Amino acid sequence: MSASDMALHTFSLLLCALATLCLNVSAADLAWNGHTTPESTTPSTFLPYYVPPGAKSYDSASPLVMYSGEWNEVHSKAYVGHSLRQTRQVGAYITFPFNGCGIEWFGNCDSSHGISYVYMDGELVRKVDARCDRVKQQQRIYWAFDLPHGKHTMKIVNTGARPGSTQPCATSLDAFVVTKCSDPNQSYSAPSSHPLPLLTLLAEGEPAEKWTLEQKGSTGVHAMQLAIISPTHALIVDKVEHNPLTTDGRPAWGALYDLRSHAVKPLSMKSNSFCAGGSFIRNGTMVVVGGNPIVEDKTAAADFGDVDGLQTIRFFQPCPSSSASGCDMYENP
Ligand SMILES: *[C@@H]1O[C@H](CO)[C@@H](O)[C@H](O)[C@H]1NC(C)=O
Ligand SMILES: *[C@@H]1O[C@H](CO)[C@@H](O)[C@H](O)[C@H]1NC(C)=O
Repeated sequence: MSASDMALHTFSLLLCALATLCLNVSAADLAWNGHTTPESTTPSTFLPYYVPPGAKSYDSASPLVMYSGEWNEVHSKAYVGHSLRQTRQVGAYITFPFNGCGIEWFGNCDSSHGISYVYMDGELVRKVDARCDRVKQQQRIYWAFDLPHGKHTMKIVNTGARPGSTQPCATSLDAFVVTKCSDPNQSYSAPSSHPLPLLTLLAEGEPAEKWTLEQKGSTGVHAMQLAIISPTHALIVDKVEHNPLTTDGRPAWGALYDLRSHAVKPLSMKSNSFCAGGSFIRNGTMVVVGGNPIVEDKTAAADFGDVDGLQTIRFFQPCPSSSASGCDMYENP
């Protein structure tokens, strides 16, 4: 083990120890939607709605958003642009034409929400269930970040249904966020002389204490482990957790963060990577090993269908695509 591996390993262990401590003291609320700003000591609701630099937000009241059927406009300061549209009518739909490579749909989730069908350019791409136990605003209901360059039309259809519900269920729209396409030729340009895009570094010669830390995006999962894996992306590995970023109908526990557009793409990790450790082997593949058993108490992680991470080996092959298309964590329990 090299000195830097050793330092990383020690750091991981320290993080695990700290995280265990946090779990012990935060038993009252389940694992997420807690403290949002580092300075704050008051728990506040985590709002996944965020517009990264270069992306554009379209409010539910935008004339570019077209509604069909009965949609009610609801006003509250809790909503983006202080308004939201919702429907309970079966078959009511929204169409939204946009130009870009990424789209995010933000809306409410609560116990009255149900399943909607999402179509992209006429094709059914996802059935999403916006039901959740307590009311949360500005939640990311659906997103896609690897659309082909150019114009697209997204359509959302309310089915009014949900397994086990006898009442007609709701669908809501607070805002769309459109991420423009990255220049495909940017992917292999030489790294800049300041290869830390998350930090704003001051000109050489300035005293070091003048460095500033600027938040440009949200990783969607906690960055328990983070590695820059290409000129365009950071790989982030979390643990089984109630993260705002989701995949396959459950929270995601790993993500790829686009350093240019600040878009995040979930990784389909299956096992609990809490306390896992990782490094690169000589062919460039990252290997992440170990983790934690399934947690059945405070985080109720067993609901997620995650598997025991203790004996897991995860592979992340080199990711040559500048849109991270086709890049994922490989796991075979
Ligand atoms: C990318 O590079 C190719 C080949 O050099 C060029 O033909 C193309 O116009 C470039 N695309 C953009 C968006 O700059
Ligand atoms: C790198 O090595 C691992 C372990 O032997 C292997 O599974 C993987 O396919 C290799 N990757 C490439 C790109 O050759």
